[in-house]
Amino acid sequence: MLNTLSSMFYKELFLQILFIVSFIPLSSQTKSHYNFVVKEARYPRLCSTKSILTVNGKFPGPTIKVHKGDTIFVDVYNKGNYNITLHWHGVTQPRNPWSDGPEYITQCPIQPGRRFRQKVIFSVEEGTLWWHAHSDWSRATVHGAIHIYPRKNSTYPFPEPYGQIPIIFGEWWKSDVNDVYREFVESGGTPNSSDAITVNGQPGDLYPCSRSETFRLRVEQGRTYLLRVVNAAMNLMLFFAISKHNLTVVGVDAMYTRPMTKDYICISPGQTMDVLLHANQEPNHYYLAARAYSTGGVEFDNTTTTARVEYRGSYTPLLTPPLPYLPNFADTEAAYDFFRSMRGLPEKYPHQVPKHISRHILTTVSINTFPCSNDQSCEGLDHPIHLHGFSFHVVGFGFGNFNKSKDPMNYNLYDPPFMNTATVPVNGWAAIRFWATNPGVWFMHCHLERHLTWGMETVFIVKNGKSLDAKLLPPPQDMPPC
Ligand SMILES: *[C@@H]1O[C@H](CO)[C@@H](O)[C@H](O)[C@H]1NC(C)=O
Ligand SMILES: *[C@@H]1O[C@H](CO)[C@@H](O)[C@H](O)[C@H]1NC(C)=O
Ligand SMILES: *[C@@H]1O[C@H](CO)[C@@H](O)[C@H](O)[C@H]1NC(C)=O
Ligand SMILES: *[C@@H]1O[C@H](CO)[C@@H](O)[C@H](O)[C@H]1NC(C)=O
Ligand SMILES: *[C@@H]1O[C@H](CO)[C@@H](O)[C@H](O)[C@H]1NC(C)=O
Ligand SMILES: *[C@@H]1O[C@H](CO)[C@@H](O)[C@H](O)[C@H]1NC(C)=O
Repeated sequence: MLNTLSSMFYKELFLQILFIVSFIPLSSQTKSHYNFVVKEARYPRLCSTKSILTVNGKFPGPTIKVHKGDTIFVDVYNKGNYNITLHWHGVTQPRNPWSDGPEYITQCPIQPGRRFRQKVIFSVEEGTLWWHAHSDWSRATVHGAIHIYPRKNSTYPFPEPYGQIPIIFGEWWKSDVNDVYREFVESGGTPNSSDAITVNGQPGDLYPCSRSETFRLRVEQGRTYLLRVVNAAMNLMLFFAISKHNLTVVGVDAMYTRPMTKDYICISPGQTMDVLLHANQEPNHYYLAARAYSTGGVEFDNTTTTARVEYRGSYTPLLTPPLPYLPNFADTEAAYDFFRSMRGLPEKYPHQVPKHISRHILTTVSINTFPCSNDQSCEGLDHPIHLHGFSFHVVGFGFGNFNKSKDPMNYNLYDPPFMNTATVPVNGWAAIRFWATNPGVWFMHCHLERHLTWGMETVFIVKNGKSLDAKLLPPPQDMPPC
């Protein structure tokens, strides 16, 4: 009797604890201090095992969880064999370029055996960002997501999602990425294409030796989930979709957007998105699939990665669910139809678009691969251009040459998206505006890694302003030396 009673008591207690635990909102699990140990770890993929560089042995690396406006410290300890730096992609780091990361631009690398405490100052960002290595090609495996929740006294501009699911796209080479990089630099040609695209580190059902580890999104019918999407691929813009489900984009580059419902998404390397998935279909298994968008006749990884959306409940699922519709590899119209419909939310998140421009900069981005005679139109490429230290308003983009008298008339100066990575269309142009309020030396570059290696990069030098709060913070004492 006593036994039964006490077991009943424990059952009750257990249920209550479960109840309590399951209702702690995700957003309370934030930390102000992280330890990042950069080290090698062995990972099996595609029927072979290799050593990769990781943070804390994880691939993808640990997720940083903060509230809007937090400041955190990340102690980076390099226990690997290579020089390394880490970049907090899209975190504008007001007055603090010291922790921004680009090797030999804002800091010397952290050498093997050394440490560096990086201060990461969050300000206007809210949504999803990511961190990654910013030295050679180590970011292929050294990267992770940053979840920025609303302030504690605030809410999402949409109903609180039932669950939050990271979707980090990456690329996997069977060879050591350092060898791919070295060969690429030595030959001067194009780098070897990756062997797989990955979702949260997993290639998915369509690749050999991968099926049992395919990433699964377990959902309950009738619920809405926030997908925190990062394109951490090295050289690929991607299309992705979930069969039979629409996706609602509610944020891009850690700034909320007007909700935009689409049956596929296009995302450039470096970009991040907050996407709502409404689990409103009949319980079954559905594929999330992603593959490249690629122009210009260059060789690329044309494989397809998958994850499985699995509804809870008792039913007999399809063994091979259908793949979702994805635009063709070179469907430029599909890519830019998507980008064209992105809008900011100026009523709720006022970020004034600059109207009076003190400095116009006209610059061309191009890689001179082929000789091109005047009467010929040469194949160009798309370039996702990322700026450190700022987000900017993408006020317009188009195809063909930029026309200074015509194109500015069509700028969106009311609700353009506020981003840190703008995709300049193939044989086209893009116009961005920003206030140069953040002093420091800030890197700007193409986020296709092969173009960055070739030198598609520059810096903005933003001088101190007049007031004290417009001046650089002092550098930290433990800046890595050269
Ligand atoms: C929420 O808190 C921030 C500071 O943490 C403050 O600036 C803001 O005014 C507060 N908002 C509301 C609605 O209380
Ligand atoms: C790159 O591809 C070439 C041609 O397939 C191959 O010979 C070479 O070993 C590859 N390099 C690496 C590092 O995988
Ligand atoms: C997806 O959106 C389209 C267009 O708004 C709509 O016609 C379709 O019914 C939606 N599909 C689902 C599964 O919600
Ligand atoms: C991918 O590229 C390979 C080699 O270039 C080609 O043989 C294959 O048909 C392509 N696959 C798809 C799905 O386009
Ligand atoms: C730019 O657009 C204007 C107005 O449409 C047109 O008159 C002009 O010829 C265009 N310039 C070029 C170089 O195409
Ligand atoms: C690592 O960084 C140090 C300091 O900048 C530099 O002297 C050294 O050459 C670097 N090593 C490699 C392999 O790049």
